[in-house]
Amino acid sequence: MEQTLIDPASFARLKTLIYDLAGIDIKPGKEALVSGRLQKRMRELGIDSFKHYLDRIAADPEGDEVVLLLDAISTNVTSFFREAEHFALLKTETARWVAAGQTRFRVWCAASSSGEEPYTIAMTMMEAFGGRKVDLRILATDISTRVLEMAKRGTYAASAINNVPPDLRKKWFVPDGDGRLVRVKDELRALVTYNRLNLAKPPYPMKGPIDVVFCRNVMIYFDNQVRSRIIGEVRRLVRPGGLLCVGHAESLSTLQGDLLNVQAAAYRIPG
Ligand SMILES: C[S@@+](CC[C@H](N)C(=O)[O-])C[C@H]1O[C@@H](n2cnc3c(N)ncnc32)[C@H](O)[C@@H]1O
Repeated sequence: MEQTLIDPASFARLKTLIYDLAGIDIKPGKEALVSGRLQKRMRELGIDSFKHYLDRIAADPEGDEVVLLLDAISTNVTSFFREAEHFALLKTETARWVAAGQTRFRVWCAASSSGEEPYTIAMTMMEAFGGRKVDLRILATDISTRVLEMAKRGTYAASAINNVPPDLRKKWFVPDGDGRLVRVKDELRALVTYNRLNLAKPPYPMKGPIDVVFCRNVMIYFDNQVRSRIIGEVRRLVRPGGLLCVGHAESLSTLQGDLLNVQAAAYRIPG
């Protein structure tokens, strides 16, 4: 099949479908990008028209193909210690909370992709605990069951941990396969629980109180209506004094409300 541009009617239908399914706002002008990504999937399925592909999605909105469609539309790109300033803040804040006597820590990583981010959170907090016995649990969620499976496995290309500090590399990873892979140690994996959660469909099933939420590099896909619903849920779940980190390209601006800006793309819940 030649690369063809999606027709306006199918693009409009896709836009509505994706928004209803995942709150993802496909902007005008993305026709070429979307066409290329969808056609790759359509070729794999032997489907030759956008209309037929969208009919298939609409017929089974809870099905596996939806996950693959969303994966094609959004990106799962992530890395260990991405936007490292947030982890420096997390380490300082955690150490401060520990010094104040806190022993129970709950963290939510709201678009965890393939797990690099929640494992970085886990390594960072363990560093800050400095060997003290504490109760730490990290909930990591994503809409994509495909990336959640990768995250649970905790196996990565050896090159993926190049920007993990050498002492942490040694402490938390073991070689896997023929040496081209590394695996997160069970002890670290045990701190993270993975679940599917669609950020566009509040209320979320958690109760809180949560100390820290990482919701990074996903807000960018949403319009202000969806973003404000997410912030509302974060406000419900995070304890006063707790933190919210968003991606560096995603400052909350008009949605900040009474959240305190502690550093770039990091906010404290007042109280
Ligand atoms: C670019 S990755 C960001 C990963 C990580 N937070 C980071 O900053 O490195 C975006 C992730 O958001 C997820 N996502 C997209 N729409 C979502 C939704 N409605 N609810 C939950 N996750 C969503 C995608 O599946 C993808 O894994």
